[in-house]
Amino acid sequence: MGLYSSRAPLASALVLCLCMLFLGVHGESRRLYIVYLGDVKHGHPVDVVASHHDLLSNVLGSKEDSLASMLHNYKHGFSGFAAMLTEDQATQLADFPEVLSVQPSRRYTAKTTRSWDFLGLNLNHQMPSELLHSSKYGEDIIIGVIDTGIWPESRSFNDEGYGHVAARWKGECQVGQGWDRSNCSRKIIGARFYSAGIDEEILKDEYLSARDSDGHGTHTASTAAGSVVEAASFHGLAAGAARGGAPRARIAVYKSLWGPGGHGSSATVLAAIDDAIHDGVDVLSLSLAAPGENSFGALHAVQKGITVVYAAGNDGPIPQTVENTAPWVITVAASKVDRSFPTAITLGNKQQIVGQSLYHQGKNSSRSIFTSLQDGGPVLRCTADALNGTDVKGKIVLCLPLERPLVQMPLTFFSVALQNVLDAGGSGFIFAQYELDALDATADCEEGFPCVLVDINTGKLIGKYIDGTSSSPMAKIEPARTITGEEVLAPKVASFSSRGPSTDFADIIKPDIAAPGSNIIAAKKNSYAILSGTSMATPHVAGIVALLKALHPKWSPAAIKSAIVTTASVTDERGMPILAEGLPRKVADPFDYGGGHISPNRAADPGLIYDIDPRDYNYFFGCIITTSASCNSTWVPAYLLNLPSISVPDLRYPVTISRTVTNVGEVDAVYHAAIESPAGVKVEVEPSVLIFNAANKVHTFKVKLSPVWRLQGSFTFGSLTWYNGQKSVRIPIAARITVHDLFAEVA
Ligand SMILES: *[C@@H]1O[C@H](CO)[C@@H](O)[C@H](O)[C@H]1NC(C)=O
Ligand SMILES: *[C@@H]1O[C@H](CO)[C@@H](O)[C@H](O)[C@H]1NC(C)=O
Ligand SMILES: *[C@@H]1O[C@H](CO)[C@@H](O)[C@H](O)[C@H]1NC(C)=O
Ligand SMILES: *[C@@H]1O[C@H](CO)[C@@H](O)[C@H](O)[C@H]1NC(C)=O
Repeated sequence: MGLYSSRAPLASALVLCLCMLFLGVHGESRRLYIVYLGDVKHGHPVDVVASHHDLLSNVLGSKEDSLASMLHNYKHGFSGFAAMLTEDQATQLADFPEVLSVQPSRRYTAKTTRSWDFLGLNLNHQMPSELLHSSKYGEDIIIGVIDTGIWPESRSFNDEGYGHVAARWKGECQVGQGWDRSNCSRKIIGARFYSAGIDEEILKDEYLSARDSDGHGTHTASTAAGSVVEAASFHGLAAGAARGGAPRARIAVYKSLWGPGGHGSSATVLAAIDDAIHDGVDVLSLSLAAPGENSFGALHAVQKGITVVYAAGNDGPIPQTVENTAPWVITVAASKVDRSFPTAITLGNKQQIVGQSLYHQGKNSSRSIFTSLQDGGPVLRCTADALNGTDVKGKIVLCLPLERPLVQMPLTFFSVALQNVLDAGGSGFIFAQYELDALDATADCEEGFPCVLVDINTGKLIGKYIDGTSSSPMAKIEPARTITGEEVLAPKVASFSSRGPSTDFADIIKPDIAAPGSNIIAAKKNSYAILSGTSMATPHVAGIVALLKALHPKWSPAAIKSAIVTTASVTDERGMPILAEGLPRKVADPFDYGGGHISPNRAADPGLIYDIDPRDYNYFFGCIITTSASCNSTWVPAYLLNLPSISVPDLRYPVTISRTVTNVGEVDAVYHAAIESPAGVKVEVEPSVLIFNAANKVHTFKVKLSPVWRLQGSFTFGSLTWYNGQKSVRIPIAARITVHDLFAEVA
C-alpha cells in the first residue's frame, strides 16, 4: 500500500496495516473506523453532517462525545464518516439499519518528456498529434490529483494564456501554511488538504496546506497535466520539453498523504474523493493503494461520471500482487519506454563495460576500484559489518549480491549499501542487481559521486578483474549519456509493476493497461526529477483520459476504459511481442498489462466500445463493503459485467458469457470476430459477424468457453478481436480449467 513511486523503501509496506490505536475513555483501545451510509439522502451537507452526529450520539451517549470522536464527514459524493471508536462501538453502529458497513481505516504510506513522444502524442507545433489537437490539449478538463500536494511555483504549473475556469467548478482554494489564495491559478484551480487523524510526528515537518514537501504529488500532477516547459532536464539528462499528457487541463489538488514518503489513510483519501465529486472534477488520479473494502468512494465517483485511475502497485514481478482492482476503476501497470542512460566504465585493463546511471558531473578521473574479499568472496550488498575495518576511503566500491534474492527489493538493498559505502568513505559505487530498475534511486547520489547500476553478470566480470589484478585495480566512470529510440527495446512491462490476478476479484483481469512508469522526468519543487513506479504510470493514463474526455464528453468512465483497453498494443514497433521483465523474462500476458500497452491516438477512435450502466456495479458491490460471512452466496460472477476483458477462473463446464458492443465509429460497418483461444480451451463466438447501421448501433453476442483439456491448471490466455479492415477491437481472455471430480477419481 502507499504511494507508488519505487523510491519508497519496500520494507515499509510490511508495517502499514497496523491501525491507529488510541486509548478510549474506559481504557478500551479506540481506532479509526470508516462508517459508510450509501448515497447522500439529506440534501444539504449541513443536514448530512447533523444526521451523522445523531447516529453516532446514539452509540456514544452525547453530542459532545460524537463531536470529539468524528474526524471526517463524507457528505457530497456519498454519506458516511470516519470516527475514533472502540470495537464495541463499531459493532453497535453496524447494527443500525442505515449503516451499510463499518471498516477500520487502513493506513497508506509511500510506496516527460520522452514518454509522450513514444506514445505518439508529439508536441510538434507544426504537426501536433491528432488526439492532442482535436482535444485542444485537454483545455476544459479538470484532473483531481489525490497525493502529497503540489509545488505551485514550478514552471510546469504556469497558467499563462489560460482562459476562465468552467462555471461548473465548485472547488475551493483552502489557505494554509505556505499557501495563500494567490497560489491557486487558472492552472491549479483548487487546493484542499486532509490532515485529521494523521500522526503528529508525521505532521511536525509538514506544511499544513496543499504545499508538497515530499515531491511525489508535484511529479504526478505535472505528468498528468503539466504545462509545456521547454528545455527541462535532470542535470542535462533526458533533456527536452517537459509536459503533462493533457498540457492544458486544469489541476485540482487534494493533499491526503503527508510527510516523507506520504502517509495517509482510507479516511483521508475518502474525504478527498468526497470533495472531488462535489467540486466537479472529470478525472481522478490516485498513485496510491486503496484496500478493496473502501472502494465505495471510487464507485460513487464513477457513478457520477468521473473516471478513476489507480496505480497497480510496485510489488512485481510476484503474481497476485496487483492492488486497486475494483472493476469500476482503471488499474495501471508500469512499462519502460525507449530511453536509457548508459554509463561507460573503463577498467584498468582497458576493458569497457556499460552500466546505467544518472551520473552527470564528469570528473572523469580514474580511481581505485575495490570489492571486499573477506571470507574469500565478494561482500553481500556491502553490509556495514563487511565494510568495517577495510580501507575503502577514496575508492570505488563494487557491491555484488551473493545469491539471487527471493523477493526483489533492489531499492532497499541499494539504499542500505549506498549509505554503508558513504559512511566508510568510498568515492564511487557500482551496484550489481538482477534487474536494472532502481535507476531513479541513483538520482539521490551526491554530486560528483558516481553511482552506477550494472547487471549481475557485468558485476561478476568486474569482480573477476579485481580478483585477478595483482597491482592496484582501477576503474574510470564517465558521465551518463541519454539514448532514445531504436537502440532500446521497448516497451517492456517493468519488473516492479504488480501482477494479476486480483485476489479480491479473480473473475476480472487486472491490471487493465500498461503505461510508461520507468525513469520519468517531471517537476519536483522548482526543478525536475527522474522517478520510477506505477505512481508515474498512473498520471500518464489520467492525462490521456482527460484528452479522451475532451474529445468525447458524453462517454462514460466504462466507455473510456474500453477505448483504452481495446486499442492497446501487444507488440512493439518492430512487431515483436511486448515482454515482461521478471525472473524469468517472458512475453507479457494480461496479468502483466491487461489489454496491453496504451496507444492514445487509437483510443481516440476505437470503433466499438464495451459500455457499462454504472448501476450494474451494485450487483458486485455487496461483497466489497460487507464481510464475506454476510456476502450474498448466490453471487453473480463479475465476468458477467460488460467489461472489455473476460476472465473465468473456474472453468469446469462450458460457460456462456454475453457482451454488448456499441458502434462509435462510422455508422455503416461490418465487423468479423477473430479468436485466439487460450490453451486447453475452446472459444466460440455467436454471431461471428456484426452488422452496424443507423438502426443498429448496438449488438449483443455470446462467447462460449469450453474446457477441452482435463487438467487442474493455471491460467492460459487468449483474445477476441472484432475487426473491420480499419479498426480492430481486441479484448484479452483468461481462463483456468478446474477439475471438479479430481479426488473422486483417485479414490
Ligand atoms: C504562493 O504564496 C506564497 C505566500 O504564501 C508566495 O510567497 C508565493 O510567491 C506564491 N506562489 C505563487 C506561484 O503564486
Ligand atoms: C571524459 O573523457 C572522455 C575520453 O575518455 C572525453 O571524451 C570526455 O569529453 C570527458 N568528459 C569530461 C566531462 O571531461
Ligand atoms: C567496527 O568493528 C569494531 C571492532 O569489531 C567495532 O568496535 C565497531 O563498533 C564497528 N563499527 C561499526 C560502524 O560497525
Ligand atoms: C442475492 O442474490 C440474489 C440472486 O442474484 C438476489 O435476488 C438477492 O437480492 C441478493 N441479495 C442481496 C442481499 O443482495
